[in-house]
Amino acid sequence: MKSTFAHISFRIDRQGMRLLRSIRYRSLVAAASFLLAVACGRGPGTPIPESDLEITDRVEDWRLTTISLRNVTDTVTYQMTQGHETVLLADSSRLTSGRAKVRVTDPGGRTVFYQGLGSPGSYFGGNGAPGTWTVTVTLTKAKGNLDLRLAPGPELVPLPAPVLDGSVSVERALTLRRSIRHYAEQAVTLGHLGQMLWAGQGMTEVMDEPPSWFGDHWWTGGFRATPSPGALYPIELYVSAVDVEGLEPGVYGYIPVKHALWRVVEESRQEALFEASLRQNPIRDAPATVVIAAVVERIRDKYPNWTDRFVPVEAGAAAENMFLQVQGIGLATLYMGGFDFGAAAEAVGLPDGHDVFGLMPLGWPAEDWREQRANLPG
Ligand SMILES: Cc1cc2nc3c(=O)[nH]c(=O)nc-3n(C[C@H](O)[C@H](O)[C@H](O)COP(=O)(O)O)c2cc1C
Repeated sequence: MKSTFAHISFRIDRQGMRLLRSIRYRSLVAAASFLLAVACGRGPGTPIPESDLEITDRVEDWRLTTISLRNVTDTVTYQMTQGHETVLLADSSRLTSGRAKVRVTDPGGRTVFYQGLGSPGSYFGGNGAPGTWTVTVTLTKAKGNLDLRLAPGPELVPLPAPVLDGSVSVERALTLRRSIRHYAEQAVTLGHLGQMLWAGQGMTEVMDEPPSWFGDHWWTGGFRATPSPGALYPIELYVSAVDVEGLEPGVYGYIPVKHALWRVVEESRQEALFEASLRQNPIRDAPATVVIAAVVERIRDKYPNWTDRFVPVEAGAAAENMFLQVQGIGLATLYMGGFDFGAAAEAVGLPDGHDVFGLMPLGWPAEDWREQRANLPG
């Protein structure tokens, strides 16, 4: 895109009907402001510089790019057409200072996305009804570039509903908890995996809107099993699946609001993850490994001084939840923190902006560890 151009194109594609409308113009800033306000439903205020703005709105694929933001403070709204219930937000924005936030609401006003921009990566939104969605971008003294894309949500693999009252007490699970490094050659089920993921990041309270005290932060649709500073939930769980009943080998991301998986990589990455783990055998032997990742930048805005401490603490809390849950359903795991962080992220194809904090294999214990622990109480 040339910097002196504004280029807006809309395409509506439903039941075979296509409409492509392009407007190009040069140096007519006043006319551009008017056209943008009408075409995009934008409210009043200092606009994002028209000379640097590009919006593309195709059905189920919407993108806003703007370069060279120079200290812009504004709130602008756009309309997009969305035929699905779910959407993936790809953020490639680069802000050098200031803030940019996006809020996306469905036709009923339900919040689908509510997050800060400038943490490059792909984010899965909550549910929304198909129709006209409203995208509101709020800029506060923003400098840099915005590149925001809302694309169709991925196909989901639903997980069985989590069991909410198992038969093993918390005390018993704590007593039994032990790091297991040898696993039987036996598949785990989607139910086992789903239960572990639910304990780590599952929703325990779903809310359509942030509570009033919540303020202007990243909103993920409710509260989760693991505590999180400011309820901003930087942790993202991924699974390297090798032998899980009902799941093709590959890498999957866990979507808490849907209690479902989406496929990130369509082949087993077990060998690469084994290498990244400095060749620790549990990774090679387990039928699945949960990868605890985090988008650290998600909390920096609110906790600039505490970010680097908060995220590992939350990762540890999620890990312990999963550990106790796995123990409670009679399977085995282990928390592994000694590995090549960059190689692990690459091995499982994590999006930009994700750091890996831990690996937790999941499997059936091969060793009769109960017998080894002759002093086990109870
Ligand atoms: C932060 C952290 C990192 C760890 N990293 C590894 C690891 O990379 N590989 C491994 O085999 N065990 C790892 N462990 C597991 C410990 O070795 C284990 O917890 C310890 O030996 C106590 O045994 P227990 O968990 O059975 O009580 C780690 C534990 C923690 C808390």
